[in-house]
Amino acid sequence: MNYQPLPNRYDLMRYNRTGNSGLKLPAISLGLWQNFGTCDIADNYKRILLTAFDSGITHFDLANNYGPPPGSAEEDFGNILHRELKYYRDEIIISTKAGYKMWDGPYGDWGSKKYLTASLDQSLRRMKLDYVDIFYHHRPDPETPLEETMAALNLMVKQGKALYIGISNYKPAEAKKAFRILKELGTPCLIHQPKYSMLERWVEDGLLDLLETEGVGCIPFSPLAQGMLTDKYLNGIPDDSRVKKGLGFLSTKHITQDKIELAGKLNEMAMRRSQSLAQMALAWILKDKRITSVLIGASKPEQVTASVQCLQNLNFTQEELTDIENLLSLRAKM
Ligand SMILES: NC(=O)c1ccc[n+]([C@@H]2O[C@H](COP(=O)([O-])OP(=O)(O)OC[C@H]3O[C@@H](n4cnc5c(N)ncnc54)[C@H](OP(=O)(O)O)[C@@H]3O)[C@@H](O)[C@H]2O)c1
Repeated sequence: MNYQPLPNRYDLMRYNRTGNSGLKLPAISLGLWQNFGTCDIADNYKRILLTAFDSGITHFDLANNYGPPPGSAEEDFGNILHRELKYYRDEIIISTKAGYKMWDGPYGDWGSKKYLTASLDQSLRRMKLDYVDIFYHHRPDPETPLEETMAALNLMVKQGKALYIGISNYKPAEAKKAFRILKELGTPCLIHQPKYSMLERWVEDGLLDLLETEGVGCIPFSPLAQGMLTDKYLNGIPDDSRVKKGLGFLSTKHITQDKIELAGKLNEMAMRRSQSLAQMALAWILKDKRITSVLIGASKPEQVTASVQCLQNLNFTQEELTDIENLLSLRAKM
């Protein structure tokens, strides 16, 4: 039988305005960096996507190089979109990116107009789409003039291949310059995608203030520190974990004793709030009104359902916030 989405899915989610734009994004978005490549199980990732859509998640985040192999996450997503969600394209926000190495030679990496233009065309072909909703420059390019990179992004919007533009991994000074150039070109930057979690907090050092001043949204990635901010590793490394998958993005060397002890203490706090540690880690990010959405990953549909339930308790008492700060600062001193 054909998939029928849950009729009440939009009641299960919150939707936040993205900066000063007209676009709202779900408080929780789903990324396809891991668990969606050719090496993964097709039925599982289809169920992850459909569970997300049934939970009110309307935003799916991709990049040219997601897989492995690079490009396969876009292909897999495109297939599911056209088979299962074909009547719902207008209810879905799809983003993709270019900026990391995608093909050999001097035109398959970084931020030239040549690379970005060709890459978006490839992404559209892989996903069988006419346009993406958001196109990101994935990381700053120290060699290409920022004016060229931003002009290429503006061109994609003018050509109708992307509706909005975003940047990712840009530090405050380079982000500010990018925002100015984009504004002058008539395509204001919609959103910034930085890494942000309880374990990685550089965005608090100027970026969030800048985004608020500039009216640009913020969608942090790896909010669970790839699984470290869950109860997953408290009693060893499970066979069904990202670490055991062995793709190198999270490996045994990252599972240090101090992080496990910290996760254990945070887990006790989360239980006192009647939440899982994953839910508390997401709520902790979403408590800041400058955050538009948190960008989660998932290896199972149940993780999506559990993570969305963080919305049941986004409030922290001052005492809880102080306790979390104390735990995090203890680790910083280790
Ligand atoms: N712009 C960039 O440079 C950049 C870089 C990285 C990622 N991203 C984006 O951010 C997205 C998310 O990144 P991420 O996958 O690192 O995010 P994450 O949410 O920090 O980690 C996801 C992992 O945490 C575990 N998990 C998730 N929900 C859980 C739950 N409820 N309970 C227990 N464990 C849970 C799973 O680990 P197991 O797999 O071990 O089960 C899952 O694969 C990516 O898909 C991508 O779209 C962007």
